[in-house]
Amino acid sequence: MQLYLQIYTLIDATHLLIFHSYFRWLVLLIMLVQILWIYINYKRNIIFSAKDFKILLLYTLVFDIQLIIGWSLYFNSMLVEGFWADIAKGIKNRQLRFFGLEHMSMMNLAIILINISTIRSYFRINTTYGFKKLWNIYIWIYLIILSSIPWSFSPLTSRPNFR
Ligand code: HEM
Repeated sequence: MQLYLQIYTLIDATHLLIFHSYFRWLVLLIMLVQILWIYINYKRNIIFSAKDFKILLLYTLVFDIQLIIGWSLYFNSMLVEGFWADIAKGIKNRQLRFFGLEHMSMMNLAIILINISTIRSYFRINTTYGFKKLWNIYIWIYLIILSSIPWSFSPLTSRPNFR
């Protein structure tokens, strides 16, 4: 019970933002490992096995956790609240528009596509084109994610790499 209470007090915008920010590095690491895994297996014409599907599920879980943290943050963020309070003004403000609309929609699109691709891969178990199909879609998904992160060096909306 006490543990639940402790966890509950940690669920505020500040803690969620720190968690979301650091979890991004795990997401990026997974992206790097996953894209190499997909590419090497695709180039070697390796059959997409049931074991590979389970590995893919684990990768997808990491993205889904970031999605859940992202949505929890979305409903607690002052920036997002500011955006929805006056949309006409919010849309003209780069920071408010980015977190209220752009970041949320692009990351959701990417993670929905990841989940759809994972489900579709189930039907490609024991085929040689399983990894090829993954390669064809993941390269685009990764571009969406990489371009929607508020990098510290971004001229558009920048945030510190480490909080
Ligand atoms: C792969 C998925 C995602 C990655 C890599 C990611 C990454 C990030 C990063 C690096 C920041 C800046 C953190 C900081 O200021 O230190 C951020 C902020 C934020 N993200 Fe995400 N994000 C993802 C998905 C999502 C999703 C799906 C949502 C919501 C639906 C979301 C909502 C937000 C919000 C609301 C903020 C800013 C909150 C504030 O400053 O008040 N993110 N995200």
